[in-house]
Amino acid sequence: MLNKSLKRTSSSQKRLVRGTHEHLTWVDEEEKPFYELNEILNKVIIGDCLKVMKKLPAEFADCVFVDPPYFLQLPQKRLVRWSGTLVTGVNDEWDVFKDFNDYDDFTRNYLQEIRRLMAPRATIWVIGTYHNIHRIGKIMLDLGFWILNDVIWVKSNPMPNFLGVRFTNATETLLWAVKDKKVKKYTFNKEVARSFTGGKLAINVWQIPLCRGRERLKHKTTGKIHSTQKPVELLRRIILTSTVEGDIVFDPMAGTGTTGYVARQLNRKFVMIEINRTYVDAIAKRFSS
Ligand SMILES: C[S@@+](CC[C@H](N)C(=O)[O-])C[C@H]1O[C@@H](n2cnc3c(N)ncnc32)[C@H](O)[C@@H]1O
Repeated sequence: MLNKSLKRTSSSQKRLVRGTHEHLTWVDEEEKPFYELNEILNKVIIGDCLKVMKKLPAEFADCVFVDPPYFLQLPQKRLVRWSGTLVTGVNDEWDVFKDFNDYDDFTRNYLQEIRRLMAPRATIWVIGTYHNIHRIGKIMLDLGFWILNDVIWVKSNPMPNFLGVRFTNATETLLWAVKDKKVKKYTFNKEVARSFTGGKLAINVWQIPLCRGRERLKHKTTGKIHSTQKPVELLRRIILTSTVEGDIVFDPMAGTGTTGYVARQLNRKFVMIEINRTYVDAIAKRFSS
């Protein structure tokens, strides 16, 4: 596995990150065998989700949102659009895997563990692009998840296909599933779902712009903090349709923490995990503003 960022969290790290984060973050330590729910509720655990999830209590999550690495396999060269501007794709080290087998092993491992953490009537949302969502979908079905819908996020402001050799890719796919075909009484707030698409039918197509402008977390000198920060509106729709107030929403690869940020706004609880401290710093700042 070449997911190098996995190696960053060591047991020598301080337990809590800086004074200002103390209420929000928790650094995972090798020697910590198990987390009680009250230790992690409304917290971001800094660590490798594959290790941390093994220590979380079974069936604690009412809803899971997973936005995993895409394994885009971008060439290691500068991509420049006709206008001369540099194309900023996802070439982060967390998106690097040795090959498809490596990526599939990673996917299978986190999905298996998530399944253990899901409450009996919980649902899971997994988001991806054409690069990874088909592999993920197959693995989910193999593990016994039952897919309720694929919801298509249509981006109203997509990045154009600058070479003009393919369609401009303007969508991501969300797979929404229960952990077993037998699960029937999951939460689906259909009136809310209808309201997103004109009021008559709760159709599975959501048009939402990419996360830009003031919503986008920015670094003073290097531009955006995270290459794939998801829009608040996307998480708002997910959480409003598939949870009720007081539910616990779990995100094992939190990035800039959009899931917990929106969950908190909507009076839900959250548990998040993120391996990269820079992103966790950004989450802490986001939560305190
Ligand atoms: C697609 S991004 C998530 C973006 C997030 N939804 C947001 O709105 O900002 C995937 C994230 O997974 C994190 N990640 C990758 N492997 C991980 C692992 N093994 N454990 C925890 N986090 C991981 C990366 O650092 C990255 O921030």
